Amino acid sequence: MTQPTDQPDANHPAPAAPTGRASLYSARDRDNMRWFWRTYLRKKSPWLIVVLGMIAIQGLVYQQFLSMTENGLRVIFDSGTLRELALICTVVFFLFAVRGLMSYLVPRVTIWISNEAIFQMRRDLISHLMALDLAYFERTKSGEIIQRMVTQTQLLGVFVGQATANALRDGITVIIVSGYLIYKNPILFGSAVVVLPFVIWVMNFVSNRVKTTQGQAETALADYMNGIEETVNGMRTVKISNQEEVEAARLMTGTRSIRDLMNRVQFTQALVMPSIDLSSAVVFVLVIGGGGWMVLSPSFDVDGAGIITFLLGMVMVFDPARLLALFFGTLQSHLVLLDRIRGLFDERANITDAPDAVADFDTAADITLKDVQFSYSADQPLFDGLNMTFQGGKVSAIVGSTGSGKTTILSLLSRLYDVKGGQITIGDQPIEQLKLRSLRGAFSVVAQDIVIFNNSIWENIRYVNPEASDEQIWQAAEDAEIADLIRRRGNAPVGPKGAQLSGGQKQRIAIARAFLRDAPILLLDEATSALDQATEERIKTALARLTKGKTTIVVAHRLSSISDADRIFVLESGQLVEQGCHSELLANNRLYAQLYTAQKQGYDGR
Ligand SMILES: Nc1ncnc2c1ncn2[C@@H]1O[C@H](COP(=O)(O)OP(=O)(O)OP(=O)(O)O)[C@@H](O)[C@H]1O
Ligand SMILES: [Mg+2]
Repeated sequence: MTQPTDQPDANHPAPAAPTGRASLYSARDRDNMRWFWRTYLRKKSPWLIVVLGMIAIQGLVYQQFLSMTENGLRVIFDSGTLRELALICTVVFFLFAVRGLMSYLVPRVTIWISNEAIFQMRRDLISHLMALDLAYFERTKSGEIIQRMVTQTQLLGVFVGQATANALRDGITVIIVSGYLIYKNPILFGSAVVVLPFVIWVMNFVSNRVKTTQGQAETALADYMNGIEETVNGMRTVKISNQEEVEAARLMTGTRSIRDLMNRVQFTQALVMPSIDLSSAVVFVLVIGGGGWMVLSPSFDVDGAGIITFLLGMVMVFDPARLLALFFGTLQSHLVLLDRIRGLFDERANITDAPDAVADFDTAADITLKDVQFSYSADQPLFDGLNMTFQGGKVSAIVGSTGSGKTTILSLLSRLYDVKGGQITIGDQPIEQLKLRSLRGAFSVVAQDIVIFNNSIWENIRYVNPEASDEQIWQAAEDAEIADLIRRRGNAPVGPKGAQLSGGQKQRIAIARAFLRDAPILLLDEATSALDQATEERIKTALARLTKGKTTIVVAHRLSSISDADRIFVLESGQLVEQGCHSELLANNRLYAQLYTAQKQGYDGR
């Protein structure tokens, strides 16, 4: 798995309270920027130096232009020749041609660098996401993940490639032209700087406000996306319960708050420009007044050409300075995006290979749960010292009322979650010491909630074993009684989440997958619950062939379907209350016997 060379470390500063008025950047922002630089930009340093060089040339063009203008004006005002004037005009033209060329080359390079950086960031996000625990996906809104992987990275890329490059150009222009102006007339320039504290104060205000609001806007956007996803996926339920208006209203509330928050962000950012314009008005008054006075006063060696050029120079400083100020306003929003993205990198995968994990283990051995403790959340304990042994090569069944923990046991076996105490072993190997790939590779699962992808049935079956031959896939499809449907539907995709299939058809795809995968341990969680009795009987014969000699664990509510299991475990609220074979449990005359009799009467009575 490729990880960022500079993995975000768990101990970097926590997000600072966004309302703090102290500084433009919190410690975390600085840390995030450093991380982004180290991980995605530093290796492009040579190119960045080239970019800086080209940007410096652009700045120098302005400086040269100013000095040429001053000379040109003198030629006009004083006794110059037309030849001199023509020469100056030619040089000015070429200077700007050079600046134009740079204006093409700089974005070419910076856009390439930023798109590459964002590509790598997405690549790292993808592999990071794949490694995260199932539990992360069960607690995180998918809208939030999509937003990070799609829009936030995109916006960040555009910002780095264009806004930052422009800001560099503007910054360097400001520095070079200002330097020239200071050199030409330090007193006049010094008087112009009085507006700086005002500008800084405005920027600080804008930054703080943008940051808070942008954070809220991102959350609102994620909620909105999530709402769309939920509504679209749940359209059947929405329609059947007449909830279209409620859902529409819910989405409208979301869009409304996004609109309001974005207004707030952008209105605030819009404060930057007028404050710069106001400052420039003050500065121009100072320069024209002060400069004019300097020309008139005999104590200064300043002429009209010098003042006009100075004024032109101030215009050339203010233009990029305005853009620069605007840049700092938007920088705050993008720092929020960067922080969100980094937050995803901060999520740790807990279920990973131990350093000394081994790949080989006896897949036919007994599977033992020893004093297993587990809960999904601290306030709802589920297993507190569960002991069970599933015999290798035999069929075990787990029965029990809904919510008693049957599916959870199956999930624990393949480490979709880790136990919180106790141990699960296969043979004498604790499963934590096995390589995840080989552990999970040992299981064929027909899960209770079947996941079907929007692809053909054929591809859906092949998914669990891409190397399988066509004959093997057909065989699996025949065994699972889905081959006819494949012939009928051909390659047509089955709709998002298999929406165009019936429950029983989906279940048969899941069973075909188990046939095709043919792994040594078989987990069947309500595998045939959606099938009609005749189909179930036929599939069961095929399943019996499949399970032969394999460690099989069956979860079923219909007790008649598991009565020939070698061992039956009866679970009640996370506790094992009974175990034995069917006849033993009947003889015990406790929970199992009661359930069995009740179900039997139900069937007989029909
Ligand atoms: N991903 C999860 N996050 C939090 N709690 C969960 C999760 N999955 C299950 N639970 C809870 O854990 C308990 C056991 O769930 P489990 O799915 O193991 O039950 P089950 O015996 O398979 O039930 P059923 O017969 O309805 O399938 C339930 O109370 C359930 O609400
Ligand atoms: Mg279940």
